[in-house]
Order: sequence, then C-alpha cells, then structure tokens
Amino acid sequence: MNCYIGLDIGTSSVKGMLISETEILRLESRDYPVYYPQPGWSEQNPEDWYAGCIDVLKKLTAGFDKSSVRAISFSGQMHGLVMLDGSDAVIRPAILWNDGRSAREVEFLNNEIGRDFLLDNTGNIAFAGFTAPKLLWVRNNERANFDRAAKICLPKDYIAYRFSGCFATDTSDAAGTLYFNTEKRAWSEPMLDLIGISEEKLPRVFESSKVIGSILPGLARELELPEDVKIVIGAGDNAASAIGTGTLENGACNISLGTSGTVFVCADKYACDRNNAIHTFCSANGKYHYLACTLSAASARKWWNEDILHTGYSESFEAYAGKSNVIFLPYLMGERSPVNDTAVRGMFANLSAETTPEEMEYAVMEGVAFSLKQNVELIKSLGNNITCAGVCGGGARSRGWLEMLACILDMEIRVPLHEHGGVLGACLLAAKGDGKDITAFYGVKETILPDAALAVKYKEKYNKYLLLYPAAKLLVP
Ligand code: XUL
Repeated sequence: MNCYIGLDIGTSSVKGMLISETEILRLESRDYPVYYPQPGWSEQNPEDWYAGCIDVLKKLTAGFDKSSVRAISFSGQMHGLVMLDGSDAVIRPAILWNDGRSAREVEFLNNEIGRDFLLDNTGNIAFAGFTAPKLLWVRNNERANFDRAAKICLPKDYIAYRFSGCFATDTSDAAGTLYFNTEKRAWSEPMLDLIGISEEKLPRVFESSKVIGSILPGLARELELPEDVKIVIGAGDNAASAIGTGTLENGACNISLGTSGTVFVCADKYACDRNNAIHTFCSANGKYHYLACTLSAASARKWWNEDILHTGYSESFEAYAGKSNVIFLPYLMGERSPVNDTAVRGMFANLSAETTPEEMEYAVMEGVAFSLKQNVELIKSLGNNITCAGVCGGGARSRGWLEMLACILDMEIRVPLHEHGGVLGACLLAAKGDGKDITAFYGVKETILPDAALAVKYKEKYNKYLLLYPAAKLLVP
C-alpha cells in the first residue's frame, strides 16, 4: 500500500491527513495561538507551526505501518511573512495574511508606485495582507530586522525547508506575495528592486506537485519514517483546497468557509481584474484562478459565540430566516475584498429590545454570506458564468449556513464528498509528486438548492447590507 500525508498549516491549527490511494485513513490536528500585539496586527510563531506539524505527524502515524508512507506535502495559510537570518533562525514572529499594519505601505504602492505598475508586474494591486507591503513595513519600521534577513518565505515554505533542507516555494503561494509575476510564474525583478531585496533571499519557485527533496535523515529517524519519503512543495491553502475538492475546470467555483472566507474561481487563461478588487493567482494544476477574500468568516462566528457569548453554536434558525432585520458587517479585522480597507470595523445594525443572541449569531452568518456574495458578483462581472459553488472548510459543517448561502448566492451549493479541502489537497499533491493521479476522493455528497422565496428576501436584505460599508467608513476614528 502507498500512503501519503498532507499537512495544512492553518491559522487556528495544523491539520494532518493520512491517505491510501483509495481512502482517508486518519485525520489529526493541533491548535496554536495567534497573537494580536496591537489592534489590527496578527502574528504567529513559526516554531509553533513546526511543533504542531511534528505532533500531528506522530499522532497520524502512531501504530501505523510507516514504511508505506511515500510522500508528504503541504497546504499553507497564504501571504505570511517569515524572515530567517544567516543561521536560519526566525528573526521576528510571522506577520499573517489578516494583519492590517501596512496601510501606509499599501497606500504608497497603490497610489505612488501606481496600480498599473503593480498589475503589469504582478497581476494584482496591493492589499495589506500581501507579503510585499509587510516587507516594506519591516523595512520602514524595523530596519535592523530587514537588513538581517537572509531568507524570506511563506509559512508552508518554512516548514518544507525544515523538513527537507530545500528552500522552495510554489507558484500558487508565491503569487500572493505581490513580488511575483503571476502570468509568467516567476519572481518579478521590478518588484524586488522596488522593495530592495535580491532574488537570492527568496525560495526557488516550482509548480505545486514538485518533489523538492527527501525528508531530512534526523527527522526521518525522529518520526520513524523511511529516509526516502519525498517532500512535495504543495500549495497555498486556497489552491490546495481547489485540488482537494476537484475544483479544476475553467469557471468552477469553490468557497472556503474557514477562518477567512474565500471565493476561488478557476481560469484556464491568465487575466487580471484591472478594477482592482479581485486577486489573480496561479493554481496548483498549472493554471490560474481568481480569488477574493473575506477576512473574518468562520472566525466572525467564533468571535460572537465563543469570545462574546461563551456558548456553543445554534443550528435552528427557522425563526429568523427571511424574518430578521438585524444586519452584521463582518469587518472585525478591516476587510480585504472588495473594499481593501484596513481601518474600517464591523457593526450590527437594526438591533431592538427584542433582539436575541441567536438572532445576532444568525446575522453574523448572514453578514459573512453577504460579503461572499459581493465577491461572487464581482468575479461574475469579470465575465465568469458562475452557476454553482462547492463549499469546504470548518464552516461548511453547519447545514444552516450552507442553506443560507444557497439562498443568498441564489445558486446551487455542492457539498464535496470530503470537507477538508486544503489538507486533502496537500495529500493529493503529495501523491501527484509520487506519480499518482488520484481522483478517488472527488464527488458531491449533497446538493443544496436555494429556496426561491427566501432568495428574493435576501436580495432585498443584501441591498441594505451594501449600505453599511459607507457608514462604517465614516465611523472610522
Ligand atoms: C487568501 C488569504 C486567506 C489565507 C488563510 O488570500 O489570505 O485565505 O490563505 O489561510
């Protein structure tokens, strides 16, 4: 039996999956903290990712015939800035994809350097979550750290380096840096010059199923794995999810309801959104995709239920579907797509003395779904005919949320056979690197159709939701 392992270095946890060529054998995870040292900042300790990966690998393979493991690959939270010094020590905590500190650098890039320059050289404009503005922030605010950096990479690339000794990245993750030419699938020299870093500091770029090396002998011994286990570079988490859910055909759409909420739409040919709202990135199958990111998705519901209410999650929302007037703007960490605004914050509107915590939970879920709808509409406006969407990620376990999403998007929702898109995608990339094209995991578990009457009500409420951002913008202190 040939077995493959995927590790998904997420924001709240690392997930690991062990598969054979025909079935999912084991799934494990380990949580780690996110640090918010200042409002709008978000950091993690790369050592926590590594320790989490080792712990998950040990749990995945405990009592298992380890000689059957052929390859390991990765799915990683995108855009995070990891800086290593000349001795490979981590210089400072990683600055994450949802960190908003680089507003000034974003302004400089988009308005002084100019959107056309950025679009021509990278396919994207600057958003605070992207890596280039964060590097510029370090240059502007922590010059000694900037000068000390001998290696600059993304979260999963750091782990792949610790596992293999090979300093590598893949095109899907590199595209999220804003110093990568997405169309040409290579680092962008003009952008590197602008930031003031040389290509020697960056990992070598490969396609996502590339074997970059073998597991380091010491690690193989620690994990009792064969010394010839291949390390396959893997992909950014959204591109990996597309592989894991079989979102591969031109125009196919996958929505991830994880910490962030993303809308991913496959494109066979390169094209970018010159109106600036939507990202164009490389896919893990050699092609391209459009991506839009709602920064607070399942994390908004977690905030409301766990941090504020300290309760579990509700599942029965009949009392509110199409009846509640409460509206929520999910901009808890500012917002990426489409408003590109780090300063704005979220709000509830239309609260009354009768409003219940459950109704507000429902509004939080609706607000996230409205944000996803806004992004779907923008991707449609680029000429993509999106008629149905797959949904994966932790939030997809909520049947109520999926039904709501079908009505709000007014489209068919297809629940994939396996909900863990990113980590399964990493397993499939590991297998591909080992020469195995596995499709046994693809399929639709369930199709959810919109309720026509509710869809009409949601359209009206969506139009009201669109009124909240201009107001929230006025409220920024
Ligand atoms: C995508 C993005 C997020 C992270 C979350 O652009 O920033 O989806 O990848 O892990």
